[in-house]
Amino acid sequence: TRTQVGIVGGGPAGLMLSHLLALAGIDSVVVDRRTRWEIENTVRAGILEDDSVRLLVETGVSDRVHREGIAHDGIVLRYGGESHRIDFKGLVGAASWLYPQTDVFVDLANARARDGGDVRFGVARTRVVDVMSDQPGILFTAPDGVEHEVRCDYLVGADGSHSMCRLEVPESLRQHYVREYPFAWFGILTEAPKSAPELIYTHSPRGFALISQRTDTLQRMYFQCDPDEDTDAWSDDRIWSELQARVAGPDGLTLHEGPITSKTVLRFRSFVAEPMRHGRLLLAGDAAHTVPPTGAKGLNLALADVRVLAELLERTFAGQDVLDEYGPRALARVWKAQHFSYWMTSMLHTHPEANAFDLRRQLGELNAVTTSTAGSTYLAESYTGWPTGR
Ligand code: DHB
Repeated sequence: TRTQVGIVGGGPAGLMLSHLLALAGIDSVVVDRRTRWEIENTVRAGILEDDSVRLLVETGVSDRVHREGIAHDGIVLRYGGESHRIDFKGLVGAASWLYPQTDVFVDLANARARDGGDVRFGVARTRVVDVMSDQPGILFTAPDGVEHEVRCDYLVGADGSHSMCRLEVPESLRQHYVREYPFAWFGILTEAPKSAPELIYTHSPRGFALISQRTDTLQRMYFQCDPDEDTDAWSDDRIWSELQARVAGPDGLTLHEGPITSKTVLRFRSFVAEPMRHGRLLLAGDAAHTVPPTGAKGLNLALADVRVLAELLERTFAGQDVLDEYGPRALARVWKAQHFSYWMTSMLHTHPEANAFDLRRQLGELNAVTTSTAGSTYLAESYTGWPTGR
């Protein structure tokens, strides 16, 4: 098969890129070793920036996000047992959207199917070859066992945090920047009503907790845990008492409890692979960078990458020599998001080696942020997303 752009990875980055290229009249083939069912049944984060929602709606992927997504005009930072609201609407005139990222995937996969896009899920033995030639290729085995070869003008690695494409950049030319954290998130889904109208990011001496939502009857919550925590050691009762203890305060906030239908430990790190372009190979989304989950920047960054990449590929096919702009343009936003995610994480989590000073300092920082218009405006503009292209 011949195509203009070969895309490894059929998650939100790969599918959105394929969709945007199709709108520009550029054809692409997307391959992913996971089946559609596997991707649809992985629990992901639930927050979209205003610009991510706009991209989905304005390019004709989804109007469901407007119907089923819920705009939140702020979040709550809770510390010392008290809630402090950050008013996104009032501070920066923007909102964040509660819309499960799994639904973003479903909308994108449906849009590609509707428009006749070439997307192959469930392939095996994927290899990329001849990245530095002018005809790079993707080799893979289809679910029926037949071997395929796709040759393309440009090859995009949108193959997630365990990317094999990024290893095609020679070691002597690449830099991997990493920060590990000595904690993870214990994530649950529970069949219960909402405990509060907006998300609650909680700092407590027992560690971080995040009270998020999915629907009126299904809620998502997380609490900081050891990276090696065993979910089997946590009964529903034990989980609820830990969550209740972390959010407890003089205002009497209590969470509505219900049956817990999913329990997972999510490990994370901060990671950036540079450069994002090597010859005709381009990296996008988690393949090039991952962030800790606090602030839910991951998917939003992936969409911002492919928005830039689609524009530059379109201009490249029109004869302009602009592909060198991709890395610098994408990375400017990536490093801002790296800082924001790192900052939110370190401000709200308890470091295992923290002493009494560190705890008091965090409370001072939280106080500085929530009582200052400058401080809370920084949080609000970062959380709701920087304007496209910046
Ligand atoms: C969710 C996840 C996040 O990392 C976050 O910052 C907010 C919400 C979620 O899954 O709902």
